[in-house]
Amino acid sequence: MTAMENAEIARIMRHSVQHARDNTFELVDSVLEVPASNYTDPARFKLEVDRIFKRLPLMLAPSCEIPNPGDFKTMEVAGIPILLTRGQDGVVRSFVNSCTHRGTNVAVDPTGNAKRFTCPYHGWTFGQKGELIAVAAAQDFGQVDKSCLSLKALPVAERAGLIFGSVDPKMKLDIDDFLSGYDALLEAFNFKDWYFFSSRVLRGPNWKIAYDGYLDFYHLPVLHKDTLNATGLLGNRAHYHAWGPHQRLVAPDRAARELGDKPEDQWADDLVLNGVWTIFPSISIASFNGGGRGVMISQLMPGDNVGESFTRQMYLMEKKPSAEQEAAAHEQFAFLEVVVRDEDYATGLRQQRALDHGTLENVLFGRNEGGAQSFHKWTDRIIEADDEALLGLFPPQKQRAAE
Ligand code: FES
Ligand SMILES: [Fe+2]
Repeated sequence: MTAMENAEIARIMRHSVQHARDNTFELVDSVLEVPASNYTDPARFKLEVDRIFKRLPLMLAPSCEIPNPGDFKTMEVAGIPILLTRGQDGVVRSFVNSCTHRGTNVAVDPTGNAKRFTCPYHGWTFGQKGELIAVAAAQDFGQVDKSCLSLKALPVAERAGLIFGSVDPKMKLDIDDFLSGYDALLEAFNFKDWYFFSSRVLRGPNWKIAYDGYLDFYHLPVLHKDTLNATGLLGNRAHYHAWGPHQRLVAPDRAARELGDKPEDQWADDLVLNGVWTIFPSISIASFNGGGRGVMISQLMPGDNVGESFTRQMYLMEKKPSAEQEAAAHEQFAFLEVVVRDEDYATGLRQQRALDHGTLENVLFGRNEGGAQSFHKWTDRIIEADDEALLGLFPPQKQRAAE
């Protein structure tokens, strides 16, 4: 299936091409003021961590990072250690990475392949489904009911070649409801068959300062004039399309340049899927081409305090690059480190220090910055919602499909 066979993708691409032809541009209604303290107040930061990162489903990893039975991955979300496993049955499961004996991490390596996990402290052994297989020196330990001592399971689901999960074992929000139908568009990438090329972690400012930059094309020709825009071809306009809190950004001038002169049946997937795809609260997916077709998935996580975040940059490629292509792929990914670290985050860290002074009351998002406007409104809405009200923000998808 081609990307244009998805009716919603076709609609938003035609929309941007038409606007570019007519020399028009869609704006939102008004300029939005956001309190500067939203980026600097530790109490606000704690609310965001508790009500967003510890409560919602998050995109944890692309499926292709743990593609084979037995593959596993460890990570932390808001300080909570997680173990993702892919069982011999091919199913991804998620657990708190904490041994039910005395709590240390049962898996320590960042990724690997294992049929079972032997805790490095006293040697209890767990299976891929989290079950406690063996207590070390069981004859000495004393009577315990192994069936009650599995690793704590967490909600998880694989959609569109991406693994979504929550660190709240009692989460009531359905992962499909949270996705609001957006995963059907992400399917057009076919990420489940892609190749996990490389990753790294960058330190940045407050997670929202960092994330604002992924929701904004306004800055591209200015901040990135010597790098991303060395060709002079980047415009500063984006159209925003939303599915719940998730957004796709399309650059209308680029769509017109790359697609406008061709009949629709020649609109190739890599051009149609260009631009930025965001997944609330803090994922961005953007297309590149170095050594073959690729995307960089940026996964932002709050740090230990309000003024710090960590971004995992992951480079995925449609196909594993050949030996000749590999250098170009590395070059592309290295270039993106420089752009984000030395331009986006260096600027964001200066913005953080300036806002920390408290002399600026509000920051502004223009009528051309509808994506960040929507993001900040959703962030407010979610942290204001108690667990019951949260469910009301995401209409049931099954019901929607039946209508
Ligand atoms: S903490 Fe894991 S075996 Fe003791
Ligand atoms: Fe940028």
